[in-house]
Amino acid sequence: MTKTHDDSVSRFDQLFREKGIRSQRSYPNEQLIQFVAGNWFALAPEQRREIRILEVGCGSGANLWMLAKEGFSVYGIDSSAAGIAIAESHLRDKWGVSASLECGSVVDLPYGNGFFDAVVDVVTLQHLNLEDSARALAEIRRVLKPGGQFFSYRASDRCSMFLNSGADFVDAVTVSNVANTAMPLHGNGPMSFWGPALVRQIYLAQGFEVESIERHARTYGNCSCTVEYLAITAKNSS
Ligand SMILES: C[S@@+](CC[C@H](N)C(=O)[O-])C[C@H]1O[C@@H](n2cnc3c(N)ncnc32)[C@H](O)[C@@H]1O
Repeated sequence: MTKTHDDSVSRFDQLFREKGIRSQRSYPNEQLIQFVAGNWFALAPEQRREIRILEVGCGSGANLWMLAKEGFSVYGIDSSAAGIAIAESHLRDKWGVSASLECGSVVDLPYGNGFFDAVVDVVTLQHLNLEDSARALAEIRRVLKPGGQFFSYRASDRCSMFLNSGADFVDAVTVSNVANTAMPLHGNGPMSFWGPALVRQIYLAQGFEVESIERHARTYGNCSCTVEYLAITAKNSS
């Protein structure tokens, strides 16, 4: 693991300790709902229980809540012990659902080969540099069944913060932080900005077949600033 990885892990852990549940979303990512609905909402409840879904970087559990409420077998891993503790209590006490939770890194997943039907990432892999991303994608592919689905929602290279981060580059597409306080998402530590061509190149190299890439953009500050995300769906091509 690189220093960039460790910087990102400690930044989020600090945010959880300082702000608790307020440091993260309370409701699930809409494109994740669309992905899950398109694949499995047609299934009966007993069939849904057979579908194992892992969220890498699950944070305080807002996405896990939706997945568990919809009847899937749900697993979450996050590098922050504080984040996992919040997810555990909120899933149980606030939302009345459960998930199997682990504290650990996406670059070293504590699950067997071919265990999951799907792995999902909502704005977590975007905090890894290129070197650690390759490790994470290799791990995600390892724990997916052959043909298993991978969903990722991540910042694109059209984000205004990419070239205006006010911080150093750690590789061609990753900055050490968005230090520019006029920019959205500042202060979250390392961030990597990928375009669709890079997604296709890296996913192919790691044994994934990209099925779709959607762009989702928002503007801020009277349209002077853009934040764009890519919603990527892919499958384990083995
Ligand atoms: C921006 S938050 C997103 C949380 C959640 N996916 C959501 O949509 O609300 C990024 C999360 O990834 C976690 N994280 C960062 N690096 C990680 C790593 N290498 N392995 C696992 N989790 C990581 C952080 O602790 C944080 O909870």
